[in-house]
Amino acid sequence: MYQVGNLVKELSDKHGHTRENLIPILQDIVHKYNYLTDEAMVEVAKELDISAAEVYGTASFYTFLDTQERGKYVIRICKTITCSMKGKSDIIHTLEDILKIKVGETTADKQFSLIETNCIGWCHKAPAILINDMPYTELTPEKVSEIIKDYMKK
Ligand code: FES
Repeated sequence: MYQVGNLVKELSDKHGHTRENLIPILQDIVHKYNYLTDEAMVEVAKELDISAAEVYGTASFYTFLDTQERGKYVIRICKTITCSMKGKSDIIHTLEDILKIKVGETTADKQFSLIETNCIGWCHKAPAILINDMPYTELTPEKVSEIIKDYMKK
C-alpha cells in the first residue's frame, strides 16, 4: 500500500482536470507504483470531479491498469485466439511450473506475477507474452523457460 500524497494533484495539473485525462493519469500512477489503490482512485475521482465508480470501472476494464499489487515483473500472456491456436496453453503450463504459481497469482518473493490479457498486438508472431513492457514472441516452452530463468538471475 502506498500513499498517493500530492501525486494525483500533480498529475491532474499536468494532464488536465477533465474526464478525458483519466487514462493518462491512471497510467502514470501505475507506472510509478505498479498498481492503483482504492485511495488513489478516489483521489483521482475528486480531482476530475467524476464518480469513484467510473474510475474503478475504467481501471477494471483495462488490464494494464492493475488494481492489485503485482510482482516486480508482470508477465502478461495473451489469451486471444491466435495465441491460443499457436500453443498458449503450453506456454502457461511452462510458466506455472517454473514460477510455482497459477495464472492470476504472484510469487511469494514478489518477483513475478502471471496474468492473462487480451491481444497484445503480436498475433503475427504468436504465441506472445509481455514482461512489463517488453514483448517476447514466437515462444516455445524451451524459449520461455530460458527467458524466465534470465529474469530470475536479475
Ligand atoms: S492473439 Fe495473441 S498477440 Fe494477438
